[in-house]
Amino acid sequence: EGNPNANIRWHVPSVTSHERAAVRGHRPCVVWFTGLSGSGKSTLAHALDRRLFDMGCQSFVLDGDNLRHGLNKDLGFTPESRSENVRRTAEVAKLLTDAGIIVNAAIISPFTEDRATVRAHLSEAVDFLEVFVDTPLEECERRDPKNLYKRARAGEIANFTGISSPYETPVAPDVHLYPAKDSIEDCVEQVFQALVNRGILT
Ligand code: PPS
Repeated sequence: EGNPNANIRWHVPSVTSHERAAVRGHRPCVVWFTGLSGSGKSTLAHALDRRLFDMGCQSFVLDGDNLRHGLNKDLGFTPESRSENVRRTAEVAKLLTDAGIIVNAAIISPFTEDRATVRAHLSEAVDFLEVFVDTPLEECERRDPKNLYKRARAGEIANFTGISSPYETPVAPDVHLYPAKDSIEDCVEQVFQALVNRGILT
């Protein structure tokens, strides 16, 4: 067989990312929300999406939970599966940024090494912001919107993040949010300002 990739080649797109940005009035980027289950990642990603959409930006949410219904339906929650889940999500985010879109990815991505790999890979081509949704475990467990913590504590769900599988805290996120203390609007505003400071919203 040899190398299966030996005979494929990369086609250079005819429309450049600069041309797309000029038409849209903003640059593409990836806003990567990481945090525990129930921390508020999806809520914040969708709230930011709404704000950007209402301004006329092209943005889109990639939700880990939703991708696991399709593209990632073959993956479970072992460390290996999570790494592959994160890798695929980053590849989809990359494709969407090639199309000029601001991508809001909401995915637990519990391992520092995987997040570092994503950052290194994506930031070669686009702006990348890691947003740590820092809701304490006790608060996530108190909220328990899907009743998953209760089931994990009862031993009904294996490898549950924060209970029986680790969440490695980001050490140097681009934005550090405290949703247990600040409102959703305040949190969205902080991410929005980070995008402004990066010059994404030209
Ligand atoms: S990961 O770690 O990045 O691959 O996870 P992700 O793709 O974001 O999927 C997390 C959602 O899957 C549900 N779920 C679990 N989460 C953590 N651990 C275990 N074992 C698990 N089993 C199912 C849960 O609804 C997560 O959704 P969110 O939105 O994070 O609460």
